Amino acid sequence: MKTKAKPLFGKIWIIGALLFMSMISWMLYDILQREGAIGRYDDIIVMGTNAGFKPFEYKNGNEIVGFDVDIAKEIAKKTNKTLKIEDMSFDGLLPALNSGQVDMVIAGMSVTPEREKNALFSKSYYSAAQRMIIKKGSSIKNKYQLEGKKIGVQLGTTGDTLASKIKGAHIAQFPTAPSVLTELNAGGVDVAILDNAPAEQYTTGFKELIVLPGSLSNEDYAIAIKLGNNKLLEQINQVIDEMKQDGRYKKLIKKYFGNDTISLQGEEK
Ligand code: ARG
Repeated sequence: MKTKAKPLFGKIWIIGALLFMSMISWMLYDILQREGAIGRYDDIIVMGTNAGFKPFEYKNGNEIVGFDVDIAKEIAKKTNKTLKIEDMSFDGLLPALNSGQVDMVIAGMSVTPEREKNALFSKSYYSAAQRMIIKKGSSIKNKYQLEGKKIGVQLGTTGDTLASKIKGAHIAQFPTAPSVLTELNAGGVDVAILDNAPAEQYTTGFKELIVLPGSLSNEDYAIAIKLGNNKLLEQINQVIDEMKQDGRYKKLIKKYFGNDTISLQGEEK
């Protein structure tokens, strides 16, 4: 009897300790997850963006909508997750991706070699260009007249980088694309450099502003994902491919640009 009772007691003790330990670690895991310290609940996918960039992301009342949001919805559907959108400053997007605050950045973000050091980029979903915007009556007619001028840009964008390389230029950085145009309209800068589509859309709100013909660059918009997150990258690329093949992409172009001939990638133009 004595020899049998001892191992049984020992077993119960071990089982109890294991149960207790797993309960504690489960509770700890739950708390850390709620606090955002170790990723989020598995059923949510977070898109980081900077809403103020028509037609890609902008506010409609309190809701953030746009071309990029519609793509994000397709990605959420594909990955079986609920989409959550975090609106933040454009220059904070890649840091938010790296800290795990967001899962993907969809913000009309152009692929650049510099950014590729800090993030993975999906296949391109839109071809864009930097354009100059002036106020009626301005003496600036082309890119050769930018030297020494006061140039308005959105902070941290490719337009910002491009402007900073122009000799003697004074760069004024603004938090959003529309705020650059407000400043241009008020005469605070001589010229603005912005992406073509938002430039076209926002200038319609200002009678005096004109988008000059001629591009300063050719760029590709793509979705940024954290380095190492190859599984999500693959899923996103698949969504982009499928959307282009089955007509959903064409529908989006029509919905946001009014025709289906603009920047159709990998398809007949
Ligand atoms: N395409 C430019 C870039 O990648 C500007 C993007 C700005 N996007 C935005 N949502 N405000 O730098």
